[in-house]
This record gives sequence, C-alpha cells and structure tokens, in this order.
Amino acid sequence: MSTYDFENLPNRSNTGSIKWDRYADRDILPMWVADMDFRAAPEVEAALQERVSHGVFGYTNPTAEAVQAICRYMSEVHGCHIEETWILWTPGIVPALNIAARAFCNQGQGVITTVPIYPPFLTAPRYQERKLLSVALHNSAGFYTFDWDALERNITAETRVFFLCNPHNPVGRVWSRDELTQVVQFCDRHQLILVSDEIHCDLILSADHEHCTALKIDDWVKKNGVTLMAPSKTYNLCGLACSFVIISDDALRRSFRRSMRGLFNELNCLGYAACAAAYQHGESWRRELLQVLRRNYAEIVQFTEETMPLIKVSPLQATYLAWLDIRALKLHHPRTHFERRGVGLNDGTEFGVPGFVRLNFGCPPSRLREALRRMKIAYDDAVRGDK
Ligand SMILES: Cc1ncc(COP(=O)(O)O)c(C=O)c1O
Repeated sequence: MSTYDFENLPNRSNTGSIKWDRYADRDILPMWVADMDFRAAPEVEAALQERVSHGVFGYTNPTAEAVQAICRYMSEVHGCHIEETWILWTPGIVPALNIAARAFCNQGQGVITTVPIYPPFLTAPRYQERKLLSVALHNSAGFYTFDWDALERNITAETRVFFLCNPHNPVGRVWSRDELTQVVQFCDRHQLILVSDEIHCDLILSADHEHCTALKIDDWVKKNGVTLMAPSKTYNLCGLACSFVIISDDALRRSFRRSMRGLFNELNCLGYAACAAAYQHGESWRRELLQVLRRNYAEIVQFTEETMPLIKVSPLQATYLAWLDIRALKLHHPRTHFERRGVGLNDGTEFGVPGFVRLNFGCPPSRLREALRRMKIAYDDAVRGDK
C-alpha cells in the first residue's frame, strides 16, 4: 500500500525549472540534471507552509530545530556522534567544494579526484585557480573500483586535497568500509585533507549495501576530514539551497570559514524549515521513494538487456542516476543523438569520460517507460548507422 503519489505530479514547465527549461517547447523528455520530478514529502510541504504563514522572512540564523535534527539524524541514521558546533551551512555542496579547494590548497597546490565524476569536482579546482589531478577509476564490466596503482603514480607533492564522492555520482558505487579505509590510508600517507561528498547517502538502492560515512572510518578523519551533506537530493529540495558541512577539527573549520567570508549571507529561512522537517518527519516518504526508484532501475536494466544489448548499465548501488556505457554505438555526439529522438541525457564527457550517458530516473514510472521507448529508437538508429 502506498501512501504517497509518485505518479501524478505537477507540471514543471514554466516554473523556472532548470531541468525542464532546457527543452521548453520541444518534445524532449528531460532525464538529465540530478533533480527528481517528485513532489516533496507532504510532511516537508506542511513545515514550509507553516513557516510561510508566519509571514516574516528576515535574516535567519540556522534554527535550533534544524541543527538538532541534523545531530539526531547523524547519530540515529548514520551511527555517528557530531557536535552542533561542527556544522557549517552553505547554499549548496557545489559552493562547499569550491570553498574547500580554496581553503585547503594554496596557489600552485591542488586536488586529486577520480573520474568519471560529478562535474563540479573537476571545475571547482579550476574556478579557484588550483591544480587538478583526475585519475580514472578501474572499470570492470561497468563495476568501478579505485585504481590504487594509478593514484599512487599520479599523486604529486603539491596535492593537498582528495575529493571523494560517496555514494558515487555517476557510477553508483557505495564504497565499502575496506575501500574507504584505503582512501583514508592514501590520504594519510600523502598528507591530504579528505573532502567527502555524501549528498546521496540516503539513496541506497541495493539491499546488500549501507552507507558508511567517512567520519566513522577512523579518528584520522576527525582531524583531517570534511563531510558534505544535504537533504536536497533525497528529499528533492534542491531549489531551497540548503546544505551543510561537518568539520570536527577546529583549525580546519576556521580555515573553511575564513574562505567562506563574504561569499553569501545566512541561508534562507525556508531551507532550514525544510531541512528540519525532512530529517525529522521524512522517513516514511523516503522509504516509499526508494521502492519507486528500485523498480525504475530494475526496469532500465531489464529493458536494456532485452532490447538494447550493446548498452551496458553499471550495477547501481545508490542514487537515481543510471550510468550507461554506450561506447559500442560509436556515436560522435551522444547527447544530440538522443535529443533528436526525444530524450535529454547527460553526456559522459561532462564527467570526464566520453562514450557514456547518464539517465536520471527520478521520475514517474510512466515517464521513464516513454523515455526508454525513445531511447530504443535512438539505439536502433545508431545500430543501423543513422547517427
Ligand atoms: C555528488 C553531488 N554533489 C553535489 C551535488 C549538488 O549539490 P548542490 O545542489 O547542493 O550544490 C550533486 C548534484 O547532483 C551531486 O550529485
């Protein structure tokens, strides 16, 4: 029995949606940017409505309710005690990545990360005029692991920071405790600060996996780690611009705070209200969401295996973003090829690797089905040589 409606949803055209505006007035289904089409949990909507009905929207400190909700959530959901004072707020994880690059590297120093990767991991060092080392993950039939030899070979004395994405966008891995321990050992060996982006941590699809926050790996992380989190992906609240950074070490936190100075004001009051409500009251909605996402992902896998066998779907442990290896189709411009057949996907080149596309399946099952039908037309055209 489902309590929430994940099928009949408001029309997002003409609402300023970045996802939908890209294809305004064109018959292209937007299956790209990581933003789901679902309405927020009614419990979150109710909290927002209550806040709106107050009618006064002045500068707002992080509310005690939001701060306490995060501490409780970290302890109860992720088994990790954090202090209220460890939390800093940013209007997004992307600004936090940029601030981290600036705070922890001087000019001439830089960041190491693994590709494919969520594009701002690649742009943040560049925007902040820091160096970037990107090292390919090892890809074995779509299953990705760290390539420790390549990481050791490529690291330089100027590298100061490791950008980790866990769970990983776009390859969908939930890194195991062993893998995370290796990450920590690598960072320790090379005196790197570990910046762990865990924004997808409550979107675990695989029954065999659970999220392990970097903070739980080793006390080393408490001294040398920065954890980035937000309710925005899980609860579909990206437009409310509310995320947070957990830094337990005083000196690191001071350094991060110093690099934040003057960049933005306090966050908006609605963001804090939604954040508190999501962590306090959003659990039953989240559980149903995961069921919808699991079914959607299973449909992608089955449809692809049965009708588009040259496309390989990475085994996805988390997120609502399927990573498809389309190298066998030999498309010159994959994004345009699929757009011409009515589906808007992200191109692998944005993530640092050509020959792949990313499909956002955070949408009603009926829309996913139509997108797959259109992808099959694009697939048949590609196989026939019509590119
Ligand atoms: C790994 C990762 N980090 C951060 C973000 C976006 O963060 P924000 O919207 O809070 O800047 C995304 C969005 O897709 C993401 O996948």
